[in-house]
Amino acid sequence: MGTATRFWNWNAERYARQAIADQASYQKKLAITQSYLTPDMRVVEFGCGTGSTAIVHAPKVKTYEAIDVSEKMVEIGRGKAAEAGLSNLRFTVGTLEEVGAPDASCDAILGLNILHLVPDLDGTIATVARMLEPGGHFFSSTICLKNLQGGLRLLGLATRVLPFLPTVSSFSVEDLETILKNAGFAIDERFEQRPGVVFLVTVKQ
Ligand SMILES: C[S@@+](CC[C@H](N)C(=O)[O-])C[C@H]1O[C@@H](n2cnc3c(N)ncnc32)[C@H](O)[C@@H]1O
Repeated sequence: MGTATRFWNWNAERYARQAIADQASYQKKLAITQSYLTPDMRVVEFGCGTGSTAIVHAPKVKTYEAIDVSEKMVEIGRGKAAEAGLSNLRFTVGTLEEVGAPDASCDAILGLNILHLVPDLDGTIATVARMLEPGGHFFSSTICLKNLQGGLRLLGLATRVLPFLPTVSSFSVEDLETILKNAGFAIDERFEQRPGVVFLVTVKQ
């Protein structure tokens, strides 16, 4: 088991109890996302955590596959889905690359508060592009350390020297948008929640 999995397993119960810090922004991101969702859609979300967002979106689409490396997060998510009676919501343990899906088999993919945590950002975005069909949307919400002020900027460095913390990558909003564009995405909507925290809706060309 890797550092990230150990860390998130250890954090799962606490994460599940944590209140959302900025409710207004969270609700806005849900509403933007739902404006794209239709009942025929096949949706994948990676780094889904305890499935709080999956449970909101799943009733709006045909199938919703929620993926996370932490089996504890997934266990909590499965419990919530069962409680909500959502039979179209399936949880799987793993990374997006490990779980995979055939080429062009998804209508929408979500990666919320996860892109700064994946070990190979370009590779993950290439996988998203491969799994989406042309015209499919990728929704991401990301903390971009390079745009942050003060001590938080150093978080990436700290995670490289403290062995019990999962590595956090440091890039800017501009870097992220460039990677997305190079992978064949166009930016549809951009909501900068606060400097360095960006929600992007991108469409595969
Ligand atoms: C900051 S939490 C975000 C959870 C949820 N998306 C949210 O917005 O509340 C990051 C989640 O990503 C998972 N995770 C970390 N690295 C991952 C990876 N490489 N692939 C898939 N999931 C990962 C963790 O287990 C954790 O549940």
